[in-house]
Amino acid sequence: MNIAIFASSNGSNAQKIIEYFNNNSFIKIAIVLSNNKNSYVLERAKLLNIPSFSFAPEDFKNSQIILEKLKEFNIEFIVLAGFTLKLPKILINSFPDRIVNIHPALLPKFGGKGMYGKHVHKAVIEAKEKVSGITIHYVNEKYDEGKIIFQTSCKVEKTDTIVTLAEKIHELEYRYYPEVIENVISLLEPENINNI
Ligand code: GRF
Repeated sequence: MNIAIFASSNGSNAQKIIEYFNNNSFIKIAIVLSNNKNSYVLERAKLLNIPSFSFAPEDFKNSQIILEKLKEFNIEFIVLAGFTLKLPKILINSFPDRIVNIHPALLPKFGGKGMYGKHVHKAVIEAKEKVSGITIHYVNEKYDEGKIIFQTSCKVEKTDTIVTLAEKIHELEYRYYPEVIENVISLLEPENINNI
């Protein structure tokens, strides 16, 4: 099963996912896509020998170029890992229950437009939350509102800063995201595979 990863900037999660599935005989990370041609995730993909493709935001809205690229690489499942654009309807409808995202907080809290990366951790600290965590969820047309697949938490200490909290959250992401992706794919109905 060929997977596409969409990422917008650093791509440390993308790298962990690529490494995790490196020797997997069934699941293959076939391409990394980014809306930012200068993003470090594209450099990571190159170093890891994974094909990549960058596109302009206007191409994303129209989606045809993206859909063609996904077809070219026989993509059957999409993983968002630090991807900041909202997915167009046509893309979501083309991959029903086959797009997952990770959010660096415990949804439904601290989700929605503008809530990404350090903005999330800043909001968590300012709200004096005692716990934060990660949420892995299916993607639908609304930001961060798709069905939740997995959550796990960590403590937020009084001494935590945006940087230290981001580190804790990244550790959870690296530890769980690849495994959860593998589980979600293993639960897909066999008759629905190769069907897109
Ligand atoms: C992660 O914390 C992810 O949850 C969020 O954006 C961050 C991306 O980090 N959506 P990286 O690009 O994987 O290093």
